[in-house]
Amino acid sequence: MVELTPKEIVEELDKYIIGQKKAKKAVAIALRNRYRRNLLSEEFKEEIRPKNILMIGPTGVGKTEIARRLSKLVEAPFIKVEATKFTEVGYVGRDVDSMVRDLVEESIRMVKVEKIEEVYGKSEKIADEKILDILIPISSKRKSSNPLEALFSTKEEEDENSLKEKEHIMNKRNEIREKLLKGELENEVIEIEVEDNYNSTIELFSGFGMEEYNINMEDIFGDFLPKKTKKKKVTIKEARKIIGNQEAQKLIDMDEVTRLGIDKAQETGIIFIDEIDKIAGKDYSGGLDVSREGVQRDILPIIEGTTVMTKYGPVKTDHILFIAAGAFHVSKVSDLIPEIQGRFPIRVELENLTEENFVEILTKPKNAIIKQYQLLLSTEGVNLKFTEEAIKAIAKAAYITNEQSENIGARRLQTVLEKLLEDISFEASNLDNRDIVIDEAYVNKKLMTDIQQRDISKYIL
Ligand SMILES: Nc1ncnc2c1ncn2[C@@H]1O[C@H](COP(=O)(O)OP(=O)(O)OP(=O)(O)O)[C@@H](O)[C@H]1O
Ligand SMILES: [Mg+2]
Repeated sequence: MVELTPKEIVEELDKYIIGQKKAKKAVAIALRNRYRRNLLSEEFKEEIRPKNILMIGPTGVGKTEIARRLSKLVEAPFIKVEATKFTEVGYVGRDVDSMVRDLVEESIRMVKVEKIEEVYGKSEKIADEKILDILIPISSKRKSSNPLEALFSTKEEEDENSLKEKEHIMNKRNEIREKLLKGELENEVIEIEVEDNYNSTIELFSGFGMEEYNINMEDIFGDFLPKKTKKKKVTIKEARKIIGNQEAQKLIDMDEVTRLGIDKAQETGIIFIDEIDKIAGKDYSGGLDVSREGVQRDILPIIEGTTVMTKYGPVKTDHILFIAAGAFHVSKVSDLIPEIQGRFPIRVELENLTEENFVEILTKPKNAIIKQYQLLLSTEGVNLKFTEEAIKAIAKAAYITNEQSENIGARRLQTVLEKLLEDISFEASNLDNRDIVIDEAYVNKKLMTDIQQRDISKYIL
């Protein structure tokens, strides 16, 4: 496990998220604390509970984005749930335990990938032999096509023939094996048998929420259901991957994987609960919605530390780190039930983004929006450039629009850019001049008149 220091975590997050220093710092410290805890003796380890984090901030300032980036960064099992999911009963609604089950599922998946990587070298070798078997079968006791020939040939002749044949096959195999291992046959197409994991009965049942009862049809029937296989034509390169994977699955010890997976989820798991503000406050809706307070009460034991039954066995939630986030526009943090508030000792407020932040968001992140548009248009041979002033003007336009209508944070940049580049996107394929420079004048022409006329309807999402 690569352990990043808080500083390194923040540096990584900086590549994608502008500003929000406090929030980044808080998540970085929380992660490091788990690592520190891990170094302690069992006795103390048990005593140290994670400090859950509550991120509070207006919409579109990076709450979810921080969580999303964090998950890619840490090699800890991580899942994100919307708190609102639990307020709907019946078909779409889920019970709160499902977040722990999902986390374990993810954790086991991660461990499995790790284990498979460990045995992959071995399984690849097996795969090569299997491919060789397909190319030149060993047991090709070539049945004589002419039954009379078999009838008249003497025993000795036959033995001699089969011996010769065997030798021939072995020579051929060695020759082909050499080519195979040298990678000279990668693009040849062969036919292989692949396991057809998709099983309609299982699909059918699980659609009815069997998971809620911790029942997995495959667990029950798995060994009885005949393993379906189907034939598939693939290149040797692909065949090695597919067969190698199948063989790797056989080589790993699934009991061990499950055990390690549960451990990993319990000790290092992170559950991100988004939109927690939506389950705060009094219930106005009534009707079919499960009451919000009810959802909070359901979630509480999980956050406080309980044991959830999963199909892999019991999972303790005591040391899982919870990060919750919400805009708290309508409701306030104090509208959450006190017990829940108490379980999130670390509060970080995310700041409203400034015009300067917008400039950076447009250009700095690895996946910056401007870069995205440039890439998209480059596929049509259009070379799109922005002057520095133009970028500033775009940021300004977004900022003003946020003030004049609803403040949707950085999401505004998307709508503004879409509007700005509408014509160019539309015409891209038949432009004469494919070097386009967007300058301040162009931005003002496209965006400012709109703003001045307060024709903001278009920006309202
Ligand atoms: N600080 C930031 N740096 C870079 N990009 C940002 C930042 N804040 C927001 N964005 C961009 O805006 C989009 C929306 O942000 P995000 O999903 O994090 O909002 P949020 O804070 O979770 O809002 P909500 O309360 O509505 O869920 C993201 O896709 C991201 O690209
Ligand atoms: Mg969000």
